[in-house]
Amino acid sequence: MFLCDNWLFYLYRPNVVSTMTYLRNFSLILGVLLLLIAPASCQSDGSSAGLSIIPQPRAAIGRTGKFLLKPDTKLIYPKKDAEEWALAVKYFQSIAAPSTGFQLKTETYDKQFTPQPNTICFVADDKMTETEGYVLEVQAALIMIKARTAAGAFYAVQSLRQLFPAPFNGTEKEAYLDWAVPCCSIADAPRFEYRGLHLDVGRHFFSVNDVKRYIDLLAMHKLNTFHWHLTEDQGWRIEIKKYPKLQTVAACRKETMIGHDSDEPRKFDGKEDCGYYTQEEIKSVVAYAKERFVTIVPEIEMPGHAQAALAAYPELGCTGGPYAVAGTWGVFDDVYCAGNEKTFEFLSDVLDEVCALFPGQYVHVGGDECPKERWKVCPKCQKRMKDEKLADEHALQSYFIARAEKMLEKHGKKLIGWDEILEGGLAPNATVMSWRGIEGGIAAAKQHHNVIMTPTSHVYLDYYQSDPATEPLAIGGYLTLEKVYSYEPVPTELSASEAKYIIGTQANVWTEYIPNADQLFYMTYPRACALAEVAWSDKGRRNWADFSNRMRAHFSLLDVMKVPNSKAMYDLSSSFAGSKVNITSPDKMMQVHYTIDGTEPTAASLSYRGPFKLEKSVVVKAASFMGNKKTGKILTVEYLVHKASGKSYTMPR
Ligand code: ACM
Ligand code: ZN
Repeated sequence: MFLCDNWLFYLYRPNVVSTMTYLRNFSLILGVLLLLIAPASCQSDGSSAGLSIIPQPRAAIGRTGKFLLKPDTKLIYPKKDAEEWALAVKYFQSIAAPSTGFQLKTETYDKQFTPQPNTICFVADDKMTETEGYVLEVQAALIMIKARTAAGAFYAVQSLRQLFPAPFNGTEKEAYLDWAVPCCSIADAPRFEYRGLHLDVGRHFFSVNDVKRYIDLLAMHKLNTFHWHLTEDQGWRIEIKKYPKLQTVAACRKETMIGHDSDEPRKFDGKEDCGYYTQEEIKSVVAYAKERFVTIVPEIEMPGHAQAALAAYPELGCTGGPYAVAGTWGVFDDVYCAGNEKTFEFLSDVLDEVCALFPGQYVHVGGDECPKERWKVCPKCQKRMKDEKLADEHALQSYFIARAEKMLEKHGKKLIGWDEILEGGLAPNATVMSWRGIEGGIAAAKQHHNVIMTPTSHVYLDYYQSDPATEPLAIGGYLTLEKVYSYEPVPTELSASEAKYIIGTQANVWTEYIPNADQLFYMTYPRACALAEVAWSDKGRRNWADFSNRMRAHFSLLDVMKVPNSKAMYDLSSSFAGSKVNITSPDKMMQVHYTIDGTEPTAASLSYRGPFKLEKSVVVKAASFMGNKKTGKILTVEYLVHKASGKSYTMPR
């Protein structure tokens, strides 16, 4: 049929086909592609047609031939809504420039669009149904990107960058001869409308540049929401002009605990730790996110996790203080007083400034982990419960959240809260983030409230991703890349109509044990890649074996971009039986090399070809390699060979 190598070139020959003919033909081709991605004919094995893109597109066909990017390749985009489309175009230019040295020229077109060779053409098509969908056609002559919106075009660019050799994405000029992309046709669109990644900047503060990099990387993976957790017991991070002590007091803690929360006795670093974002900085982050089609959901925690705010304004707590910005981790009893009108005045003022800064539809108000100890004995809180006929302190929390919802509605915003906001009854229009498991999400969906699934079991990226003995200190837990990948956000307990309330999923990155940006990216990547595929790709297109193959190329991309990342996926394991050492590698494409003299293995060390016998006690060190490059951690195991080694034995009864 006509999906052969040169069909599109024929269609694009300048002066041979009119714009209308071209567009008609393109629509035909698009129709065929859309047929290919229709559920009935979709490739359900998750195979990637030899194209390594994460997250996996809905449908992809690889073909022979390649498109060569040249210094004079032109980027052409529509004049209508040019500002929006230019975001996708400029983004491509900005990736291409550092590595290729090409300053690619751009041109806008009106209705007189004439396809030309050696161009990357962006075409708007309002007949396409998916807002964030796109079609990407790579031909030897040109590249065509078609989308309903500029967001779709941006995602096409994100796929395109992954089709180039990895160094294309680097920050340094590369003397590459062939900046080539394989010919292919891709038709793609997301499964979920909400695809999020969270960052806690309360426990550890991250610079504006680190936050921007975080956003850039999540956008690269076609996530569209950055959940910015801005206030915590350990620090208030957003400038609120009406309350200057939030900057001078709440943004600073005297010292920070070192080691794990469970360590006895506790130790502290003795260093003051301060940080907040000015409103000008927030605006610059919002603008940066917008250029990447990312919406920011700011989180202002209430009624709990508020000790930093109480340190600044103690009259907002039940006891009146004094309070200190916390230097330890955990859940604290001192929360906002729900009986004091001043609390609501303060929060209303804060939310006024927050709503003015963030253009997105949602504001997150926390609602998690709010102990009720103070409320139970606070005369003001108890009076509020009596006056409002609230049955218990859970109902008081619901009252609190419902008032926050009203404050947001004044600005036309919607409220999100953690799943504790279900206790005592949901605020009328609240969206629930299910984190303690999936039960909260199920309950909220059954009540016809929108839900974002973020259960600790599958998407808490602060958990260990590999053997704790060889990892930086983390909060605990154990969450491998494969487990994140296995996550299915729509619980089977929901009917098809209830399932519609699951609007998406998100991974959370809490930073009690993440003190710097290198560790932040190491904890986040590649697990955020797996989350991105869960959020974007159709369920039937997900396939762990295929994903782990694509991860090999994706690791090159992350490495070239100098994104710290974990290669725990390549962790080796070993066993010892019958005097023989058996080393298991999860990726059969890797070569395993080992030593038995205590030295670090290199690509020149002994090659592992199967179980080997030990004659004496040794330390075996092994690692997996791709060519000369070590791809994972070194496995170190001490084997003791003695007279009973390899012998059978019987346990006495
Ligand atoms: C949470 O992890 N406390 C929402
Ligand atoms: Zn109170």
